[in-house]
Amino acid sequence: MVKIAIGNDHTALEMKCIIKEYLEQKGYQVLDLGTNASESCDYPVYGEKVGRAVAAKEADLGIAICGTGVGISLAAGKVKGIRTCVCSEPYTAKLSRMHNDSNVLAFGARVIGIEMAKMITDAWLEAEFQGGRHQRRVDMIRKIEEQE
Ligand code: RB5
Repeated sequence: MVKIAIGNDHTALEMKCIIKEYLEQKGYQVLDLGTNASESCDYPVYGEKVGRAVAAKEADLGIAICGTGVGISLAAGKVKGIRTCVCSEPYTAKLSRMHNDSNVLAFGARVIGIEMAKMITDAWLEAEFQGGRHQRRVDMIRKIEEQE
């Protein structure tokens, strides 16, 4: 069973709960890393949690949601081995898996509606990394990370 780590800040609590239930109904196992409180909180905390869970293989993939998706994806992407993408439509989500082997999907609860969030999530989860020349390019990204 594919396990998905999910994290969010206060702006995205409602969207997170709906996406979590949506994923569970589809048969995914969900590791909810919070926040589950509506009080204002700091998105880097939850981005890091999602990134670390995926990097440590506690989950296969991660989904991170904040107001824009940007801050939480930046935080998740600071964890070694994490490749994030912020998506507002399904095409980018799909190609980010197929070409970039993205392992954390981010989107903004203040940017897109819940139906678009579901479509993006489906497109991302249903796509597969294509390898080949794309593997070489992902390896180039990894090399940059290792040189830091
Ligand atoms: C919170 O106000 C907001 O800054 C956060 O949700 C996110 O959009 C940051 O990138």
